[in-house]
Amino acid sequence: MRYVIERMTMPDVPRVIEIERLAYPSTWPPSAYRKELQDNRWAHYIVLRDKQIIEEHTVVPPQEPERPRKSRLFPLSLLPSRPAVTISSPELASIIGFAGLWLMVDEAHITTIATHPDFRQHGLGEFLLVSLIDTAYSIGARWVTLEVRVSNFVAQNLYRKYGFRQAGVRRRYYSDNQEDALIMWTDEINSPAYKQKFQELKSALMTKLDAQ
Ligand SMILES: CC(C)(COP(=O)(O)OP(=O)(O)OC[C@H]1O[C@@H](n2cnc3c(N)ncnc32)[C@H](O)[C@@H]1OP(=O)(O)O)[C@@H](O)C(=O)NCCC(=O)NCCS
Repeated sequence: MRYVIERMTMPDVPRVIEIERLAYPSTWPPSAYRKELQDNRWAHYIVLRDKQIIEEHTVVPPQEPERPRKSRLFPLSLLPSRPAVTISSPELASIIGFAGLWLMVDEAHITTIATHPDFRQHGLGEFLLVSLIDTAYSIGARWVTLEVRVSNFVAQNLYRKYGFRQAGVRRRYYSDNQEDALIMWTDEINSPAYKQKFQELKSALMTKLDAQ
């Protein structure tokens, strides 16, 4: 498949911050990611890569045709040098989304999830959420929870699709505009009903992503 999920590592952080700035009204300080990745053993962060971007970036620099020697009237050192072909790291450019959670006893708390604005509405936010829920299963969580701005209907739709339900409100939770947060929870993710629904949604998503 064109898209892959990997564990976030320190070299990924500059690109993650770039996407975060495009996705959120306020952002974490860069040091927060270092702490999360290096010091927080309960944190799990992932990045989403588009392998096609790596292929597109792997361009061969154009070769300058060999000129006959006699046309070089000036000493070579006085000729303007050809600008180096600068290619931003294809590995970094290929990151188009990221997400993370903390495990607290048997609850997985989603701390962040975002896709680059140029790559929205292709099922990739959903792919990140599915990957987080898979992580929640693999680390023994029984429920998944998160906070979301009351105005963020797009994210709420995504969460509702995966069985998150509103369980309360945190008043003035967001310091940038004093907006309230909805607190959302899944049912017990190991229940047969949740597992079945999750597997159905995941397999439909994989079929959709496979076709891209
Ligand atoms: C929320 C976010 C991650 C969704 O990413 P995305 O890649 O566009 O989402 P997807 O294409 O995977 O869509 C998944 C679901 O989200 C919902 N959704 C996505 N775009 C939507 C839109 N424009 N309007 C309404 N619902 C939408 C739908 O339920 C959709 O499922 P469907 O395709 O079956 O309708 C993305 O909008 C984002 O990064 N937003 C900024 C950061 C943010 O708000 N994060 C959440 C913090 S709590």
